[in-house]
Amino acid sequence: MAPPHTFLLAFLLQLSLVALALQGAHPAYDDSLLCNAEPAEISFKPAKLDEYPSGRIIDITHAYRADMPKFMSADGIGNVARLHISMANGSLYNESELKINVHTGTHVDAPGHMYQEYYEAGFDIDNLDLEVLNGPALLVDVPRDKNITAEVMESLHIPRGVRRVLFRTLNTDRKLMWKKECDMSYVGFMKDGAQWLVDNTDIKLVGLDFLSVAAFDDLIPAHLVFLKSRDIILVEALKLDGVKPRIYSLHCLPLRLVGAEGSPIRCILIK
Ligand SMILES: *[C@@H]1O[C@H](CO)[C@@H](O)[C@H](O)[C@H]1NC(C)=O
Ligand SMILES: *[C@@H]1O[C@H](CO)[C@@H](O)[C@H](O)[C@H]1NC(C)=O
Ligand SMILES: *[C@@H]1O[C@H](CO)[C@@H](O)[C@H](O)[C@H]1NC(C)=O
Repeated sequence: MAPPHTFLLAFLLQLSLVALALQGAHPAYDDSLLCNAEPAEISFKPAKLDEYPSGRIIDITHAYRADMPKFMSADGIGNVARLHISMANGSLYNESELKINVHTGTHVDAPGHMYQEYYEAGFDIDNLDLEVLNGPALLVDVPRDKNITAEVMESLHIPRGVRRVLFRTLNTDRKLMWKKECDMSYVGFMKDGAQWLVDNTDIKLVGLDFLSVAAFDDLIPAHLVFLKSRDIILVEALKLDGVKPRIYSLHCLPLRLVGAEGSPIRCILIK
């Protein structure tokens, strides 16, 4: 039988747990970790982090600004999140609704985007392979005087075995994602460039710095080449400003939109 002081200890421990619970503190936290800040100490200027102080994380996702370009439009995307219950109107809380074209801003395409039979068969965003969307990725600069043709692809000498490539183009230099009016002269893949990639590389994730990986002149044909096998994932409108060309650890997570052929996506690079 346990000596009596064991029971006493257990009883005292119980008491102190009850006391902590009454204070609202979980016993796993010691007092020094608890935040007792007065409301006045809370900063009212939330930081917007594109570059993190550690320099380890680079956010390559565009923020949804109302004046972000909308594909084939001069108007910008407008407000995608709108308050439908508002404290300004006397409610006890604020609540917004999201209304967004799934190909807005930094986003990903599913095979059903341009193949009706894939759409009907359910090759949607929820089927995208997170193993492809996350892993080592190479950021490359492409020549600024051409769209991405077979010749350009060949000149990049991307080694076999590289599975994820982020292509930075003239679009970044021209700051096209920062202009409200969508500039249809953006750089992207031509059909033969897409075909060269499919035939001669192991790339399964293609990232580009404007709203479409395909140049407007080859908008549909280049998408069809990429999406045909259903194992290449297209990530569009990445924010590659000021990022050094090299290998990073890429992390991209789309929303689990069942039945949708596109989705907003959050992508970061970790050095
Ligand atoms: C607040 O109330 C006004 C007047 O009824 C209405 O026009 C407006 O849409 C409301 N806004 C929100 C966010 O609820
Ligand atoms: C709620 O939204 C209103 C604008 O309608 C804003 O003035 C207020 O600060 C918001 N409150 C909170 C708690 O975010
Ligand atoms: C790329 O193609 C578009 C048409 O899709 C064209 O307007 C643009 O000038 C081309 N860019 C370059 C650098 O050749």
